[in-house]
Amino acid sequence: MDDFKGRRVFVTGAAGGIGKEIAASFAERGAAVGIADINGGLLAETAAEIPGATAYEADVADRSAMFRAVDNFAEAGGLDVMVNNAVYFYYAPLVDMPEAEVDKMLDIGIKGSFWGSQAATPHIAARGGGLILNMSSVAVSFAIKNAAVYTSIKGAMDAFTRQQAIELAPQGIRVNALAPGTVVTPGTQALLDDAGWQARSAMMPMQRMVTGREIAEGALYLASDGAKGVTGITLKIDGGFTIVGPR
Ligand SMILES: NC(=O)c1ccc[n+]([C@@H]2O[C@H](COP(=O)([O-])OP(=O)(O)OC[C@H]3O[C@@H](n4cnc5c(N)ncnc54)[C@H](O)[C@@H]3O)[C@@H](O)[C@H]2O)c1
Repeated sequence: MDDFKGRRVFVTGAAGGIGKEIAASFAERGAAVGIADINGGLLAETAAEIPGATAYEADVADRSAMFRAVDNFAEAGGLDVMVNNAVYFYYAPLVDMPEAEVDKMLDIGIKGSFWGSQAATPHIAARGGGLILNMSSVAVSFAIKNAAVYTSIKGAMDAFTRQQAIELAPQGIRVNALAPGTVVTPGTQALLDDAGWQARSAMMPMQRMVTGREIAEGALYLASDGAKGVTGITLKIDGGFTIVGPR
C-alpha cells in the first residue's frame, strides 16, 4: 500500500510508544517521515527501523529547536502532516505536584504542541493544505485519579484543536485530534503496575486495551483524502471505554 507516497509527515515524541506507531504506519504507506524526540538513543534505534525516516533529536518545549527541526524536514521536500504527540506524564494529587513537574508537563504537552503547529503551519500552507494532528485522551471524558494536570493538558488540546481548525481552514489546513483509550506504551507502563493493568483491561468493553497500531489507523484516516471534510474533531479510539466509563 502506498497511498501516502509523496506525502511528508513529521511526528514528535516518535522514538517510542504511539508516536513510533504513527510514524511507522505512515512510512509503511509510502510517506517520508521526520521523527523528533528528546531521547536521542532510542530515536536512533527507531530511525533505523523505519525506512527513510529522518531523525531529529529535539525538545518540543524548545521553540527554536522545533522550528529548526520542522524547517529542516520541510525544506527537504515539503510538509503535509504534523503530529503533535510528545508527552511527559507525572501523576500525583495536585497538592503534591512539584512546580518543576507541572512546568515540564505544560511546556511539553501544551506549549510543545503550540510550537509544533507554529513551525508546521507555513510549510503545510505552502503545499495548499494538509493536516495538523494533536493528541487528546479519553482522560478528558471522565476524572482520573491523580491526573489533574494531565487531563487539563488534554482538555486544552481539544480546545486548541477546534480553535486552530477555524483559524487555519482558509489555508486548507485541517486540524484534528485523536483521543486514545489506554495503550500499553513505555510512558503508561511506568504509571500502572500489573494489578492496575488487569483492572484497566477488565474495564474495557472489549476486555483488552486498544493498541498503538489501532491509534495509528486513526491518524492515517484523518490524513487521508477520505477525511477531507473532517476538521476540528477529536476522534476517540478507545474500544468503547468512554461509553461505559471506569468501573
Ligand atoms: N498511552 C496511552 O494510554 C495514551 C492514552 C491517551 C492519550 N495518549 C497520548 O498519546 C501520546 C503518546 O503517548 P505515549 O503513551 O506513547 O507516551 P510515551 O511516554 O510512551 O512516549 C512519549 C515520547 O515522547 C518523548 N518525549 C518526552 N518529552 C519530550 C520532549 N520534551 N521533546 C520531544 N520528545 C519528548 C519521549 O521520549 C517518548 O519517546 C501522548 O500525547 C499521550 O498523552 C496516550
